[in-house]
Amino acid sequence: MSPQRKLLLLGTFVHSKTQQSLDIFHNAGIAVDADGKIAAVERDVPDLSEAKARLLTKLGWDEAEVDVTQAADGQFFFPGFIDTHIHAAQYANAGLFGKSSLLDWLETYTFPLEASLSDLSRARRVYARCIRRTLSHGTTTAAYFATLDVAATNLLADLCLSMGQRAFVGRVCMDRTEMNPAYYRDASTEASLEATRQTVEHVRRIDPGFDVVSPILTPRFAPSCTREVMAGLAQMHRETGLPIQTHLSENPGEIRLVAQLFPESSSYTDVYHRLGLLTPRTVLAHAVHLSEEEAEVIAREGAKVSHCPCSNTSLTSGAARVRWLWDKGIDVGLGTDVSGGYSHSILEAARQAAMVSRHVAMNIEIPRDDDDDAAAAEEKTKEKERVKLTVEEVLYLATRGGAKCVGLEEKVGGFEVGMEWDAQLVGLSHVHDDGELHHDGGGDGDDHGFVDVFGWESWGERVAKWLYNGDDRNTKRVWVKGRLVHRRR
Ligand code: GUN
Ligand code: FE
Repeated sequence: MSPQRKLLLLGTFVHSKTQQSLDIFHNAGIAVDADGKIAAVERDVPDLSEAKARLLTKLGWDEAEVDVTQAADGQFFFPGFIDTHIHAAQYANAGLFGKSSLLDWLETYTFPLEASLSDLSRARRVYARCIRRTLSHGTTTAAYFATLDVAATNLLADLCLSMGQRAFVGRVCMDRTEMNPAYYRDASTEASLEATRQTVEHVRRIDPGFDVVSPILTPRFAPSCTREVMAGLAQMHRETGLPIQTHLSENPGEIRLVAQLFPESSSYTDVYHRLGLLTPRTVLAHAVHLSEEEAEVIAREGAKVSHCPCSNTSLTSGAARVRWLWDKGIDVGLGTDVSGGYSHSILEAARQAAMVSRHVAMNIEIPRDDDDDAAAAEEKTKEKERVKLTVEEVLYLATRGGAKCVGLEEKVGGFEVGMEWDAQLVGLSHVHDDGELHHDGGGDGDDHGFVDVFGWESWGERVAKWLYNGDDRNTKRVWVKGRLVHRRR
């Protein structure tokens, strides 16, 4: 790749300060070096030209060697989103799930589609479109499940690298003869492990430092896998430190199946625990129906949870309890889980996380007034309030929380010096490409203006409106590691 130009970003910046709070700073500038790293941050300066001058002086950079992007009024820079669980192959099925639930959905919709992507021209069409669309919605990092097919999985890695999306690419392991369809399963345990090694080696060739694209070890879920393949992948993790991703405790039928298939285990989580798959580099998708003990094991081993609210509702899997997972000390990120989830947008996942937490709240029953246990009623009322997730919390899940899930919290998810410039420029008002702000009442066109309709909102309120009303029309530009990877026309 040719060396990149240095960048100066000027304007308003918003990122998570803590799990509960956003840091919003104005009249600010960020300088990004030719490696895509944040070299300096200047905040709360009198104006943008001063921010620019200070950055250039501080770093000894010449104005001629930098590209400057200045956010217009009503625009702000926000960290790129992190999708901690998405099936790239299933992008072609987004929206197709009917009334199915997990196990019949896999058989009816999912396995036939995934098997068909061993045709590389089909795979290329689906994967390129998936990457392009997720980038245009601000997803700068994605943890992908591909398919069984090595060549198609390697192609997904090639496309992520060339299109500039940071990605974890997993070749899916499914070696259990009786549980997978004959047309879509590994020939043997050894073949499954060998195919995984081939993808690892391919990614090592195209991105030797796993700088942008990394392999990820991917046992599909316990019912698809033998003990031997799961133990083999755990061994590979111990030898290489590579991350792991799988599904856990998504649906009651699935949980019963796991209990039948693994009678030696005390729970679904225990299956992975015994086989060495619970590690600080493991991402467990769903984790809807965990017991207290299971959550404690996950917390103790430092494994992470990918919360997939859109999928969990679409397939009627259940409502995962993010507050409860957090209370147990488990790190949580967001996953679209396309196409269990119909939307490929992490902004959508964030708002669905907020909505699902309200469903969890509504399911907490408060003893009626005429019951004599007033203290219990008060306790439940407090709990009901507490389980609801705020705007700040779901945006944390979408950025820093996701980064922690995939082991990238030192690199992406916020705007500190030394982190990499994975970011999006968000425009909320009627800003046209010429940078002019148009208060013409016509903002419901392509610019999707819904904020400065009134003009009196605080910045916190603007961000809330973006969360609940925004979409890709608001995502004006997207960068990964300092490279511009999407620009809205
Ligand atoms: N469990 C096993 N495979 C899958 C999958 O493709 N999607 C979801 N949501 N759950 C799974
Ligand atoms: Fe999934």
